Order: sequence, then structure tokens, then C-alpha cells
Amino acid sequence: MVSLNLDPSGQFLTLSTPARSMRFHAIWLRDNSHDPETRSSGNGQRLISLRDVPKDTHIASADLQGEKMKILFEPENKSVTFELDWLISNAYDNAEVRHRGWIGEGVETWDTSLMENVPTGDYSELVCGGPALRDWLEKIIRYGFGKIENGPVEDGSLFQIVDLFGYVRETNYGRHFEVRTEVNPTNLAYTGLGLQAHTDNPYRDPVPTIQVLYCLESSAPGGENMVVDGFAAINRLRNENQEYFDVLADYCASFEYAGEAGVCLTSRKPIIELAPEGELTGIRFNNRSMAAVTDVPFDKMSTYYEAYRRLGEIIDDEAMEVTFRLNPGEAFLVDNRRVLHARKGYSGEGTRCLQGCYADMDGLRSTYDAMQRQASG
Ligand code: FE2
Repeated sequence: MVSLNLDPSGQFLTLSTPARSMRFHAIWLRDNSHDPETRSSGNGQRLISLRDVPKDTHIASADLQGEKMKILFEPENKSVTFELDWLISNAYDNAEVRHRGWIGEGVETWDTSLMENVPTGDYSELVCGGPALRDWLEKIIRYGFGKIENGPVEDGSLFQIVDLFGYVRETNYGRHFEVRTEVNPTNLAYTGLGLQAHTDNPYRDPVPTIQVLYCLESSAPGGENMVVDGFAAINRLRNENQEYFDVLADYCASFEYAGEAGVCLTSRKPIIELAPEGELTGIRFNNRSMAAVTDVPFDKMSTYYEAYRRLGEIIDDEAMEVTFRLNPGEAFLVDNRRVLHARKGYSGEGTRCLQGCYADMDGLRSTYDAMQRQASG
């Protein structure tokens, strides 16, 4: 049961359900009108600009009509009907106070216990689309990483993974890159050393938001892949020490890669990235490409380094990591704004050959949301 109350000023109205009350401004309602003069009935795009809406727009009358609400806007003398469902799902009158670093809906942090339940899709099912693909994409959005099994063992198969949801992001490393390791313990130069967990390419703006790694050959023991939830690590840091969280969120770090001719990629971005309203949106963590940090004031620099060190210790904690081995025809992808990846060291002898590429989360989310909307009619 929904009830309606129009403020005598005509500047806003209040819709109330048994669960909550929601105020809506006249100007917001007018701007979000769905009538065919305001929005294209074909593609849903807005056909007017705010300059076409009078500054003194107000609500002259509002009436509930079943599942709809009819509003008369003055001075335009314009009548518009809204679906109540749409208003309720787009309500913005939220009294909830959220702490800095809150995590958005549909995202779930994890630690090593996720090892029992690694989000995995079967390639032969995913290529058919439908619920199998939709469920796998939902898991990528929820956990920030996912694995694929039973893929083809062919050069370039990783592009078929990207084709499931989006487009490759080409960089100075090419459309894809080779990760080939010859493991030979008699020659240290070719010993596959482990790498600390990191996010890729923090020196780009924007960073590639997905990395795909696809295994074509794996005859060397060890060399497992490992992922860590950067959001879980940041949560832990914030719970331990708010000052550490703040200093890494409030000041920019610097990142750089100039390791090949004609390339000089630099960025100034914080290690902990927040949206203006405090939502945690990203982590950049990569010891190899961190440049001299010059945006932290002298008085804060010691705290900054303590915080950076502590975040690294949390990331290195085995309680945070999910480890799995990739066999030929298997791949994994990470949300590179959130989930750190690493390779463990090798032992014995053999060859490991992977191909990697970048892609973007906006395409993945778009594919998922479009499938979701279609499924819900
Ligand atoms: Fe990497």
C-alpha cells in the first residue's frame, strides 16, 4: 500500500510504503519524466536539456492511480505519469549513513575460504550463452574473479573468453602478451620466481579493468596462480587502523612504466580509490611500478609508509589468498580494479606457457545487465 503527500510548496512530494518514506523533488521528477516528448520511446535517451525545463518548475497536483502516479507540472501545464515501481527502485531519499570505504551492492568480499568454492564456468556451457553465462558473469561482478575450464588449447583462445562479454583492450604490449617460463633449476635466470600479488598497469589512466590469463601449456610443477581480494584487504586495514586507511585514500601515489622505447606511462592515483560519496571503487598495488610518491605532505609521509607496509602484509597473509592451478585449456580473469593476482614459484623442470590480455568491466557489466533485464521481461 502506497500513500502520497504533496508538500504545499509544490517543491516535493512524499511517497510512503509500510517500509519507508521517500521524498522526490519536483525538478527531479520533471527531469526524469518518461513521456515521449521527454524521452525517446525507442532508445530511452533524453530528448530535452535542463535548459528546456523552467527554473520555477513545481508540482501543481499529484494523484495515485493504481500502480501509477499522475503529476501535473506548472508552469508547463504538463501532465506526466510515473510507474510507482520505477520511483521506488530509483528513490534517493536515503537516511542511511555509510562509513568511508563502503562496498556497493552485489559485491561480496572473500578470503581463503573461497578456495572451496572458486567461481568457475565450463567453456562449452558459457559459449551457449543463457543462464550459464549469466550466472558466471554475476559471480565475476560479485567476487571480482572467475575461472574457466574445458576451453580449447589453441593459440589465441583467450580472445574467445573476451568474446563472451566484451572487447579486448589493446595496449603497448599488443593485443595480447605471452607469459612463457622455462623452468630450469640449474640456471637461476630461468627459475620461475614467485611474484608478489599486485594489480596490473596502475600507470595507465584508466587502468585496464579486466585481465585474462589463459593456460596453453603447463608441464612445470608449482607456479600456481593466486588471487587476493583487494577490497577485503582494505576492509581489514580500515578495521585495524582508520588513519592508515585514510592516508592511502587521501593522497595520490605515483606509478610509472617507461621500460621500452617510445613508452612513458605515468599516473597519479591513490592506492585506495573511493567515489566522492565514500564507496570503495579500486585498489592500485604494484611494487614494481610505484614511482616516487610526491603528493603526500612531509608530516604524513611516515604514516603513509607504515600504512603501505601494513597493507602489503595483509595482502601477503595466506589467510587472504585463493590459490589454484591452471591446466591447459583453463583460464581465469580478474577485475583488475579490485582483485590482485600473483604467481607462486616453480620447482622442478618444465615449461609453462600462458597468454594474457586486457578487457574491461563495463562491457562485462553491460552484457550481464542486458541478459538480466531480458530474463526479467
Ligand atoms: Fe600481473
